[in-house]
Amino acid sequence: MSAATGNEPAGGEPLKRGNMCGIIGYIGRDDAVDVVVEGLRHLEYRGYDSAGVAFPTGGGIEVRRCKGKIKDLEAIVYADKPVANVAIGHTRWATHGVPSEYNAHPHSSDNIVLVHNGIIENYLELKEELTGAGYRFTSETDTEVLCHLIDRYSREHSFEEAVMMALKDARGAYAILVLSVSEPQKMIGVRKDSPLVLGIGEGEFFLASDVPAFHTRTRRVVFLEDNDMVVLSPGGYRIMDLGGNEIERKAEMIPPMAAGADRGGYKHYMLKEIHEQPRALSDTLRGRIFPERGEVNMSEFRLDEDVLRGIDRIFIGACGTSWHAALAGKYMIEQIARTPVEVDLASEFRYRGPLIGANDLFIAITQSGETADTLAAQREAKRRGALTLSICNALGASSAREADAVFYTHSGPEIGVASTKAFTAQLFSLYLFALMMAKVRGSIDGREAAGMIAELMRVPDKIEKIISNEDAIVSVAKELFKARDFLYLGRGILHPIALEGALKLKEISYIHAEGYPAGEMKHGPIALIDEDVPVVFLVQGGLLKEKVLSNIAEVKARGGRAVVVAGEGVLGEVGQADYAIGIPETNPYLEAVLMAVPLQLLAYHIGVLRGCDVDQPRNLAKSVTVE
Ligand code: AGP
Repeated sequence: MSAATGNEPAGGEPLKRGNMCGIIGYIGRDDAVDVVVEGLRHLEYRGYDSAGVAFPTGGGIEVRRCKGKIKDLEAIVYADKPVANVAIGHTRWATHGVPSEYNAHPHSSDNIVLVHNGIIENYLELKEELTGAGYRFTSETDTEVLCHLIDRYSREHSFEEAVMMALKDARGAYAILVLSVSEPQKMIGVRKDSPLVLGIGEGEFFLASDVPAFHTRTRRVVFLEDNDMVVLSPGGYRIMDLGGNEIERKAEMIPPMAAGADRGGYKHYMLKEIHEQPRALSDTLRGRIFPERGEVNMSEFRLDEDVLRGIDRIFIGACGTSWHAALAGKYMIEQIARTPVEVDLASEFRYRGPLIGANDLFIAITQSGETADTLAAQREAKRRGALTLSICNALGASSAREADAVFYTHSGPEIGVASTKAFTAQLFSLYLFALMMAKVRGSIDGREAAGMIAELMRVPDKIEKIISNEDAIVSVAKELFKARDFLYLGRGILHPIALEGALKLKEISYIHAEGYPAGEMKHGPIALIDEDVPVVFLVQGGLLKEKVLSNIAEVKARGGRAVVVAGEGVLGEVGQADYAIGIPETNPYLEAVLMAVPLQLLAYHIGVLRGCDVDQPRNLAKSVTVE
């Protein structure tokens, strides 16, 4: 571990992460175009504004691409179905250039066709040089320079050499798949700062941004490292570095993917994933607890007990929904394990010169494990000498591989762009972590820990109960789906859940929504209250209950509408709710988990009532691999 002194200015290592597209390539015994289009469907969560495929034909390489989603691509691909045993494909989230047919990948030069997930930082300078050399550009993308560069080198060098030489000239982040007209039975893939996984099947090979692209066909994979170059041909694969030296990479069998990439009869992935939570959370727990002993299985965290005992402070870095989990985790860890926790938005962490060092633990929380800012924060923490733990859902993702320790949330692939089951699984993981730390540091006794674990095990059933009451939430959605703005208010651990409720609603319904600590309402947000701005109150028993009840009265006094979400007991004490949503009783930490569920359902049904594309909301992508 290379420790920094801690006195360096803010900034950390420069970030080079690519755009958020999905790529897949296939060589094998089957119909390559079919396999690639199917793979793109599973990668569509990464971007969905345009798509394309390329495959060798008798005389060259044909490209078919379009603006729109994979279903639009299917229409042009299957109008007259091509036959090929080699193909590459791309689904795009636009960075350089508007979503359009001409900016869609694959891009081509005379002899070269490629797809790219990433950003070429020096593309303007390369473009000028290549234009001078006679190359004509037909897109606004940074990617096109790579095609022409490789093409230029391929005139005097082998295909492999041309790729290596071109990449020496290019600066930035990339995962690329390249085809050559001169060697149509060969595909070259290279990664640097953008993910690329090799899948090895029976007589077939895959290169893709993520395992779900091919997991139904093979589970044997090589997670490639930066600067690995893979050369695929129908007979096999070779891996080399960018100097052309052959290297060995271990193939591993990944476990079958739990909940799969189909909607299983649901109208949307988001709804399926909300409903899946009882099962997903049971999977998060499996093998991680000893219920009879009332203990957490510490080996799962792969962190040494003495090391944990010596930790001064914990820092958690994350983005979006995962950041909300981090904020809730602070309450759990500080209150249960009595260890100080600082939570950072990962995008800010490395720029603030964080005072983190050798006795600190940095926890990265990331569903995808590929979020650029979270990875950069994790690297910055490591650079400053901290121990790093990744709480991650995607197997083999960069965050998990780079961390000193990893705790997989095991909630299964999450396809809906709005995170739901991954969030509650992150909360579960943090609760387990807090209990483990508490044991190591002696902050709670065995009986208390056993009680907390027993309660944790009851949560999946309690979520089942909330879901069985979905009709009541649909009725609330029907009343409120035309609202202009929403406020979500909560206190303590319910403040992050309020933030999450607001984020869910704005992501999928495009209604402006804000989450706030209820105690802050009087300091500003109260100015917004009228009959068009419903306020969702998350109310917990205990110390702060009366104060939140007063906030509800204040909203009602100003003509506002109050939606109250609370445990059954507390709900009975709320006289002034316009709409009441009850959840089963549990401890305050797990109440945060339970409350997330009705908020997810409310956002979902409001989004659907407004006719929004809830699985693929506009402008978003599942895996945010740009800064
Ligand atoms: C959640 O609904 C989001 N779409 C988004 O905020 C997400 O949580 C964020 O981008 C972080 O992703 P990660 O967990 O994969 O790092």
